[in-house]
Amino acid sequence: MFGKRGTGVPHPAAPHTETPKTFSGGADVLTPERPAAPQQPKADLTPREPTARPREEAPKPTSPAPARSPQPARARSESYYDTKSQVFSALIETIDLSQLANLDPDSAREEIRDIVNDIIAIKNFAMSISEQEELLEDICNDVLGYGPLEPLLARDDIADIMVNGAKDVYIEVNGKVEQTGVRFRDNQQLLNICQRIVSQVGRRVDESSPICDARLPDGSRVNVIAPPLAIDGASLTIRKFKKDKLTLDQLVRFGAISPEGAEILKIIGRVRCNVLISGGTGSGKTTLLNCLTSFIDLDERIITCEDSAELQLQQPHVVRLETRPPNLEGEGEVTMRDLVRNCLRMRPERIIVGEVRGPEVFDLLQAMNTGHDGSMGTIHANNPRECLNRIESMVAMGGFTLPQRTVREIIVGSVDVIIQATRLRDGSRRITHVTEVIGMEGDVIITQDLMLYDMKGEDANGKIVGQHVSTGIARPHFWDRARYYGEEQRLATTLEAMERKSD
Ligand SMILES: Nc1ncnc2c1ncn2[C@@H]1O[C@H](COP(=O)(O)OP(=O)(O)OP(=O)(O)O)[C@@H](O)[C@H]1O
Ligand SMILES: [Mg+2]
Repeated sequence: MFGKRGTGVPHPAAPHTETPKTFSGGADVLTPERPAAPQQPKADLTPREPTARPREEAPKPTSPAPARSPQPARARSESYYDTKSQVFSALIETIDLSQLANLDPDSAREEIRDIVNDIIAIKNFAMSISEQEELLEDICNDVLGYGPLEPLLARDDIADIMVNGAKDVYIEVNGKVEQTGVRFRDNQQLLNICQRIVSQVGRRVDESSPICDARLPDGSRVNVIAPPLAIDGASLTIRKFKKDKLTLDQLVRFGAISPEGAEILKIIGRVRCNVLISGGTGSGKTTLLNCLTSFIDLDERIITCEDSAELQLQQPHVVRLETRPPNLEGEGEVTMRDLVRNCLRMRPERIIVGEVRGPEVFDLLQAMNTGHDGSMGTIHANNPRECLNRIESMVAMGGFTLPQRTVREIIVGSVDVIIQATRLRDGSRRITHVTEVIGMEGDVIITQDLMLYDMKGEDANGKIVGQHVSTGIARPHFWDRARYYGEEQRLATTLEAMERKSD
């Protein structure tokens, strides 16, 4: 239909050899946080789940985060850490950890607070009430939660938390990366917290397996890379999960896209164009993908494939799939490619791939090309042209030995629109291109931009000034498709309005 589909190139023999095997948990005993000269704890300190939970059983993103109190991320004095270390040692000597592990988090917190208050009184530490309150909260977080990370995890305005060893913690707020005063006691405490995080999804991080992906119970995406690969102590990166995902209307309000641009995106989603969202790290690709899915009809059967479930589709008929890393024995991995291929046997109407970064691109292109119109995915690339190149290299990564021209024909036959998301140097995120893939001229793929972001300069506060502009295309390549879905009038009116505003 619409002259683009059906460049039916046979699926070449795939080089893929992974066989999904059964997952064998990989339970892990959590290591409790201990002060510099620790007493041996009698049991696991944490009342969180004592045994590892397989990844697929991780709670849905909507599950509540453990109780935490937001604190400012400010630096503390050496004497604070010294006092804390002494109180901590005394606490470990006093408390019956096995009993603590049986309590619910709130009661455990209360218990710790009572004992710590007593310790402070007996040892006669000179502290103000607010200092004491801070210390109490801190120690509770160390024993029950994610230690110094807790105040950062409690904040909603943070997009990313980046820990580079025990003493350097950065956050991204409003698109800007800034250093915090938060620090860990030492690299061992940091590693213990990393271990606590990843063991909740049945994984382990140590010298023998120093790289690990996981997620927090609230759905936040986590990556850990530990020594010896990370030279200055474990590096932990957390993409905070936003329960209330940004909507397209909010993106318009932030100036990420113009109202007319947003209307075009709605039409693109509604008329089942195959869309790739391209962008750099943290440029807002997943957010945009999530926005686009909200314009899918309620009666469509959608299958999503993700490495870490981030999308929140509103439709009722959705199957959510998630890849699985290998277990501790290196077995049981289920790759994105396995998922996308399996999708095809699940009678999907649309396939949505959270992030395309390997040979699964070929399966997604095939799906787009064979009746699953309206499929979508995101790709790491800095502009639409680079996105096309990336697709070609990813096809090559899969070991397919197709002639370049054939690969390009498949791309042209599959992808309708590339939407480019960019994080600008002032920290703002913008949709900089809405580009159609329209055909081939010789061996070259031809694209046409429908909308661009025209950067004019910056204002006195260093904020980028610019405007979303029309490129003057009155009849996009997906015009027939829009007509088929009864959206041609809306498309024409929007393009006209965009053109008028650009003059
Ligand atoms: N237009 C926007 N304005 C403000 N914040 C935004 C915008 N788009 C996305 N964000 C925020 O930026 C952060 C990163 O967004 P998102 O996860 O969508 O990026 P991404 O490109 O998918 O990142 P990654 O490459 O790591 O997967 C999120 O906290 C999100 O809420
Ligand atoms: Mg993403």
